[in-house]
Amino acid sequence: MIIDCDPGVDDAVGLLLAFGSPELDLKAITTVGGNVPVEKTARNARIIRQVAGRDEVPVYAGAARPLVREPAGAGEFHGAEGLGDLAAVEPDAPVADGSAVDAIVRIVMEAEPRSVALAVMGPMTNVALALRAEPKLAERLGPVVVMGGARAEGGNITASAEFNIWADPDAAAEVFASGCEMVVFGLDATHQVRATEERIAAVEAVGNASADMAAAMLRFSQRIERTIVGWDAAPLHDPCTVAWLLKPGLFKLTPCRIEVETVSDLTRGHTAVEFRVEADKARHLWAVEADGQGVFDLIVERLGAAA
Ligand code: BDR
Ligand code: CA
Repeated sequence: MIIDCDPGVDDAVGLLLAFGSPELDLKAITTVGGNVPVEKTARNARIIRQVAGRDEVPVYAGAARPLVREPAGAGEFHGAEGLGDLAAVEPDAPVADGSAVDAIVRIVMEAEPRSVALAVMGPMTNVALALRAEPKLAERLGPVVVMGGARAEGGNITASAEFNIWADPDAAAEVFASGCEMVVFGLDATHQVRATEERIAAVEAVGNASADMAAAMLRFSQRIERTIVGWDAAPLHDPCTVAWLLKPGLFKLTPCRIEVETVSDLTRGHTAVEFRVEADKARHLWAVEADGQGVFDLIVERLGAAA
């Protein structure tokens, strides 16, 4: 698999979950500007990789800005450097040569058709650019497993939209229209995966470098969520993508067709999730239910076996 991300405190937990799961053959991490600028997301991915002792997995830097819109950040939810309170030191190993977009195209086109899954934890700019560069990618990719969008829950950046889709709605619209098979974890599902006090304490109790880092991310989110949003337990978004690849039974999915609003300013980035589609023709699956305790049990289990 490839993970495309913008770490980001919840991206960090998703990456640590993947690093702790040996059955995932992680070919590359690609980074995009999103929560913080791309230089920082590429650096943060390398910090996380170093903590997990997995410097052999290449990290590629990708798009610095959305296809059309001005870059936006979410530093208030992730800290100015993107990893909460953690000091951002320069990691030992460098960014890989070449762009994230070229890496996605090369890895997927060289592999058996549909054998490489792509987990997307940030704005979809890199994925849209890869599909533009190689239109055959849509039929070659394994599932594109996305954290993004909102339906029943409403948005978290505006009334209509979730941050990842809102940040680059034009890219998301292209990817959803590309014909890729997509599994989508929007806020309807990720808000069912809450980092309660007990669940954070269970991660803290693991006691190794990966778990300590994940726990620091969860504690930071807890504090920010309580201060800014007023919720006691923060939702855990991005790790749902990796958790589904590891244990699909943790989620209930419904076939649908998803389109993204790109014209209206008011509803920019809204995901129109249409369930009135013939199930055998549907290219998209929308997560409607998540087993929050099951996701946290999986995180604790995998971090327990990690570095
Ligand atoms: C998404 O937005 C980002 O801030 C998080 O990392 C996650 O990918 C949640 O809306
Ligand atoms: Ca993210």
